[in-house]
Amino acid sequence: MSRSLSPSAVQTSGPSTTRALSTVPGAVPAKEVPNSWVGHKGPGSLDLRSDTQTTPTASMLQAIIACTLRDDVMREDQTTNDLEAYMAKMTGKEAGLFVLSGTMGNQLALRSLLSQPPYGVLCDHRSHIVQYEAGGVSSLTGAHVKTVVPRNNIYLTLEDIQASVVLGDDVHACPTRVISLENTLNGMVMPLAEVRRIADFARAHDIRMHCDGARLWEAAASGAGTLPEFCALFDTVTMCFSKGLGAPVGSILVGTADTMKRARWTRKAIGGGLRQPGLLTAAARVAVDEAFGPTPDGQSGLLRQAHELAKKVEEMWAAKGGKFIHPVETNMCWLDLDAAGCSAARLAELGREAGLTLSGNRIVTHYQVAMNAEEVLSRLDRVFTQVFSEGSTVTEPKVGASSMYT
Ligand SMILES: Cc1ncc(COP(=O)(O)O)c(C=O)c1O
Repeated sequence: MSRSLSPSAVQTSGPSTTRALSTVPGAVPAKEVPNSWVGHKGPGSLDLRSDTQTTPTASMLQAIIACTLRDDVMREDQTTNDLEAYMAKMTGKEAGLFVLSGTMGNQLALRSLLSQPPYGVLCDHRSHIVQYEAGGVSSLTGAHVKTVVPRNNIYLTLEDIQASVVLGDDVHACPTRVISLENTLNGMVMPLAEVRRIADFARAHDIRMHCDGARLWEAAASGAGTLPEFCALFDTVTMCFSKGLGAPVGSILVGTADTMKRARWTRKAIGGGLRQPGLLTAAARVAVDEAFGPTPDGQSGLLRQAHELAKKVEEMWAAKGGKFIHPVETNMCWLDLDAAGCSAARLAELGREAGLTLSGNRIVTHYQVAMNAEEVLSRLDRVFTQVFSEGSTVTEPKVGASSMYT
């Protein structure tokens, strides 16, 4: 059951105060220092657009005060080294590399796994690496990207991969060198057994495997498998601290020590070598400890609350006659707005009137929303009731490729 927060405790704008900084020599003494490190009491708790809207917590600020502030390009920063080692251990990989974003992690991984052209990357057509990384795979690796539409509309299967993979050395073709899978994708879990089938096939054909696991935490917390179980099937895995876990910045890339060495090199080349990143990695470690928890199955952190809330949102929409684009498996609920005769713009407007930030047809229930569950559900109930009491508000179809950001 979710921990609830009284509505009056939700601070949707403006700073809070804490005594945290009064422990720092030279900082403003004694008096409380205004700050925004309020976590689930901040604006993120009523923002259901994305789990990227989680805001950092007071405990992260405390950890930052205690972090080391040495040079990570020289690999001398203990807080950063500890985080990388901890994540390598938790995922069962040899080494970890802290990177500034999920995009940076994915791009460094692909750059490191690909060597001599011609080479191709095979992935789901909805993948973040092709849809939302500014064409980085093409510009940074020069790889030919081939996308696949999963026949079950949820996740790629071995049969989907086999139908599209390019094998052999035909001089006309661009051979598949990396299969890049995303888990979760649109909040849906790719089952461990299917990943294993694809990984076995990939190994048999000398193809590398990358996982965009920005939200692999969510797959683990849903009970689909542990982090080491999933990560064992990939050469490289990116996982984000700054989404459902709530850290302000950063992701981890894990893989073999050799691959991480190569990725570290490329990270330097694109300006991602960091001097004193302890303040980022300290916050990231708190995010893992609190939101995912200490065990690799994610069963004792806060993420499960977010999944429970997503189910409640699903039930609420269904009870009013609503349909869905995708099943709810983790922290995302995809409303079929067309079937409800509602435009995304109208939903966002109704959300604003109810004090909720909504966008598109996706409702994301990150843990800071879940800690405010009763308040959010009652506001959503008002929004959903209004949607179904209105006539059709759907306007002209949008021209151009769709994006969850526009
Ligand atoms: C599945 C997935 N991968 C990668 C990323 C990239 O993360 P970042 O925004 O930190 O670059 C995102 C961002 O939302 C994502 O959803």
